[in-house]
Amino acid sequence: MIVPIKQIVSRAHKNKYAVGAFNTSNLETTLAIVRAAVSQKSPVIIQTSESAIHYSNLQTIFGIITSVANSIGKSVPISIHLDHGKDLGLIKDCIKIGYNSVHIDASEKDFATNVFLSREIGSLAHKKGIWAQAELGSILGKEGLVKLETGEINMKDLLTDPLQAQEFVALVKVDTLAVAVGTIHGSFQGIEKVDERRLQKIRSLVNIPIVLHGGSGLSVQMFKQAIKNGVSIINIDTNLRLAFKEALVKSLKPDSDLIDPRKILEPSTKAMQAEVEKMIKIFGSNNQA
Ligand code: G3H
Ligand code: ZN
Repeated sequence: MIVPIKQIVSRAHKNKYAVGAFNTSNLETTLAIVRAAVSQKSPVIIQTSESAIHYSNLQTIFGIITSVANSIGKSVPISIHLDHGKDLGLIKDCIKIGYNSVHIDASEKDFATNVFLSREIGSLAHKKGIWAQAELGSILGKEGLVKLETGEINMKDLLTDPLQAQEFVALVKVDTLAVAVGTIHGSFQGIEKVDERRLQKIRSLVNIPIVLHGGSGLSVQMFKQAIKNGVSIINIDTNLRLAFKEALVKSLKPDSDLIDPRKILEPSTKAMQAEVEKMIKIFGSNNQA
């Protein structure tokens, strides 16, 4: 059932487990996330990127998530979050339609602009009684990885500075903080790692829940250590995309006579559900609903 995100995250923060924030853009992924949450008796956050909203439109994807959450998922707490919001108009639309939390990602801007925008969205969100997430530091994607490999950029320069994070949080007054501690958007096993000392330092200076982005590609050990060091929300997108594609390629042979989209997509939905269940167990949010 859809609940305020505070209900989900405050408990995780207090009891030292993490809640998975899983990206969706369609019915099948939403079904997979909600079925996994129910089977594991776990709270979950379901999040949409801006491009996921553009894929269908805001009302459609919001309607899919709320109706699946309030029917199939009625026994577990579920919140809807906007992931990496950069378009102020769209962020405001998400607040208006009923999202439980919005991410204002102004991390590419200079510090003062990031503070200004994050504070503005934080106050708008609070007027509606919902949460806001801000971001400090640069979380790389595939393109950034290429620049890292060529030496054009240095990972150390992109990571969140703990003292700056302390100052930032005091100024912006948001509810959760996305930090850059070495993870990368996408799955790059062996390359991604978490700078645990930095995370510990941030945790000691910042007392709002910390969000680990770029979760796909991390090992079980890395997840567990990051949770021990104070992460309360872990974002997962690519792991579900990989599970979807792998199952589809395996099940849909070129000479297959399947034409029913439901049958074609069933193995992918099941594979994504299994992936979410695996993550939930690692994060320790199972049996916390
Ligand atoms: O905001 C979304 C996430 O940080 C997902 O990252 O694709 O590496 O799991 P991921
Ligand atoms: Zn992210």
